[in-house]
Amino acid sequence: MPHTKLIQAALAAREQSVAPYSKFNVGAALLTASGKIISGANVESASYGLSCCAERVALFKALTDDQRDFTTIAVASPGGAAPCGACRQLLAEYAKETEVILINSESPDTPTVTSMDALLPNAFTGDDLDCVSIS
Ligand code: THU
Repeated sequence: MPHTKLIQAALAAREQSVAPYSKFNVGAALLTASGKIISGANVESASYGLSCCAERVALFKALTDDQRDFTTIAVASPGGAAPCGACRQLLAEYAKETEVILINSESPDTPTVTSMDALLPNAFTGDDLDCVSIS
């Protein structure tokens, strides 16, 4: 499936990026099993470590809109970068079965397709916490 709408949503989200420090504008768009698209962009702080990636902004928006069942995430950035480690962790927990479409904003017609399983195999999740009992 070409996912044209989802790719367009990631590219449009990228336009909303607030990245005055790095100028590295990123947009992300999540597709739910019911066909809903939730997008987000990176937001940076002068205290650099407080910045948040586009993938996590999109994921947090979706989760706090009661969305849980994701099929695909599209990420648009200069060069078509793959999600950072922190985003991989969150996506592995809340969007683990998803296909990942990486879009180079300079050449959006030739995206790369991968998966969360390939990006973070054997992820640490809430299931790993089940072996302890908290009383
Ligand atoms: N960034 C993302 O939004 N997603 C990624 O996958 C990698 C990095 C952002 C964080 C920061 O605002 C800028 O890109 C440079 O690291």
